[in-house]
This record gives sequence, C-alpha cells and structure tokens, in this order.
Amino acid sequence: MKAVLAREFTSPERLTLEEVPARHPGRGEVVIAVKACGVNFLDALIVQGKYQLKPALPFSPGAEVAGIVREVGEGATGPAVGTRVLASIGFGGYAEEVAAEAARVIPLPPQMDFVTAAAFPIAYATSHHALKDRAQLEAGETLLVLGAAGGVGLTAVEIGKIMGARVIACASSEDKLALCREYGADALINYATADLRERLKELTGGRGVDVVYDPVGGAYAEPAVRSLAFEGRYLVIGFASGEIPKIPLNLVLLKTSSIVGVFWGAFARAQPERNAANMSQLLGWYTEGRLRPHVSGTYPLARYGEALAAVMERRAKGKVVLVMD
Ligand SMILES: NC(=O)c1ccc[n+]([C@@H]2O[C@H](COP(=O)([O-])OP(=O)(O)OC[C@H]3O[C@@H](n4cnc5c(N)ncnc54)[C@H](OP(=O)(O)O)[C@@H]3O)[C@@H](O)[C@H]2O)c1
Repeated sequence: MKAVLAREFTSPERLTLEEVPARHPGRGEVVIAVKACGVNFLDALIVQGKYQLKPALPFSPGAEVAGIVREVGEGATGPAVGTRVLASIGFGGYAEEVAAEAARVIPLPPQMDFVTAAAFPIAYATSHHALKDRAQLEAGETLLVLGAAGGVGLTAVEIGKIMGARVIACASSEDKLALCREYGADALINYATADLRERLKELTGGRGVDVVYDPVGGAYAEPAVRSLAFEGRYLVIGFASGEIPKIPLNLVLLKTSSIVGVFWGAFARAQPERNAANMSQLLGWYTEGRLRPHVSGTYPLARYGEALAAVMERRAKGKVVLVMD
C-alpha cells in the first residue's frame, strides 16, 4: 500500500510517497482501508517535531481518517469488517491503510460520505469540548472566534450558534468573513484591517465578550484578553500564527477573568466516556442537519504537499481533505 512517510523530523517538503507493507491489526485494533484523511495544521507540526506527540520514525502524518474496516484484530470489540467508519488516530492517516484502536473507531451515519467524515472529528470535537466543557458557554453570552474561517474556527461558529451565543467572527479577508456569515456569525471583524479592541468595544457597547476562542495566538491574543467582560473566559486552542503569546496576568485579575487551556486529544484519552457522549451529540446534530462540515479542497494522496501548503499558507477555508484512489 502507499503511504506518505516522514523519515526524520523535518520540513513537510521532505515527506515522500512510498510503497510500504500492508498493515495488520495488533491486539484490540482494526485495520481501516482509508478512503479520506483530514489535513490538519498539526500534521505539519508533527512532521517538524514541534508537536507534543513525537511518533517513532518513520511515520505518516494524518490525524483523522474515514474508510471501511478491512480486518479486525484479536480482542477487538468494535465495528465489524465492512463497516464504514471514522477514527481520530493522531498520526498515520496519509496512507491507504491504518491500524486503529477499535474502541476509538466510530461507525458513520448512513448519509455521511467519507470526505465529510474525514473532516469531522477533530474540528468539531475540539470546539464542542472547548465551548461546552471548558468555557461552559451559556445561551445569550457573546462568543468571539479568532481564525473563524479555519478548520476549528468555523466549527466554533456553528456550535456557538447551536448553544445560543451571539457570535463575533474574526478573519483576515472578506471572503473568509462571508463564509463565517453563511455559517451563522452575527457580527464580523476583519482583523487584518480593523483595530480588534476598538471594534469589540463598539460591537459590545463597551461590555466586552464572555468567551474568546483562540486558535491563532500571536498579536491578537492580548487585545482579545483585554476585551473580556467580567468573568469572561479565554480559551487557548492553538497558535496557528506561529507565536505563543505572553499575557500580563494583571489583566486576568482586573477583569476577574480566566485563561482556560483546551487539549481535546488529552481529554479524549483521559475521559473516553465523556468524549464518546460528546461525539454522539455532534453526530446527532449532523444527522439533524444542524452541522454542515465545510470542505474547501480535496486532493488525491499523491498531492499531499499541495494540500498541506493550502492549510499552512492560510489559503484554506474550513477543512482540506486527502482522498485515496
Ligand atoms: N487544542 C486542541 O485540542 C486543538 C485541536 C485542533 C487544532 N488545534 C490547533 O488549532 C490551530 C488551528 O488549527 P486548524 O486546523 O483550524 O488550522 P487552520 O484551518 O489552518 O486555521 C487556522 C487559522 O488561523 C489563522 N492564521 C493566522 N495566522 C496564520 C498563519 N501564519 N498560518 C496559518 N494560519 C494562520 C488563519 O485565519 P485568518 O487568515 O483568517 O487569520 C487560519 O484560517 C492549530 O494551532 C492547531 O494545532 C488545537
């Protein structure tokens, strides 16, 4: 089978597409014939050795896949051979086959196609966990989403609306903001051209926002923290800008606010039952037509470099997905 391999921790340009031996399931695992794989910002971080998780070399990036169960390993309780499934696997997905822990493999709703399924788990589960479990977002509160047209950002807009919040979406171009509007954002800020703090004062009548969802970091973080309302929560999701901001803690004291870390992968491992309940709620919302996963680009596996570049160079909207032949 074909797989994209990192033979060292290096720049994504040095990945190679190779012929490798077929996968076999270990104890408690299933092998999935991969049909589609979500492309994530974290794929590039893992390849460069800049992510929390450092797989043994060589490895394939690719954190979430959809496909068909091809083989069930000893002791695996989960979907049978032939079941259409999705799985969040951390790495390994840029390949025609993956071995995945059976307990983490989820059957697809009948109407969900493989591309949609591969775009689904990480972005939606992260935003749902962040807004529900970590921020405890309430109906009627104001939610500010940075990088709102990106993979996780757009799902935060959708889930924020489902939870009854007023959503202010920020992005760097008018076409990205138009997409956020289509996904339900109530107010828009182009943070490439507008003064974030001033616009937020205008939009909230000086009160500030209750929750900030920040997957970008960098220069927007401090104005966002300064724009929190009394008892506001600032969710640390990621640092797509490449810069980890340093926030003066006096701001947190003055606003009686909280800075809240979010690491969905760690939550899913530590609390699998709560995570499964969250995922089933998300798949229920999808089945009811309340979530509309947005895939702005699909690429065949061989064009993995272009797919990753679209994400890294800030061109993607919503998700990018690799499809197997
Ligand atoms: N904490 C968790 O559990 C968790 C889970 C999943 C992802 N994440 C993290 O969340 C972040 C976003 O992931 P994603 O998959 O949503 O990525 P994405 O689709 O690339 O979206 C990131 C957004 O960040 C903005 N951005 C600003 N500066 C950028 C730059 N220099 N390069 C790229 N994007 C830039 C872009 O929006 P504008 O152009 O509009 O600014 C882009 O749409 C990553 O750091 C990822 O590791 C964390």
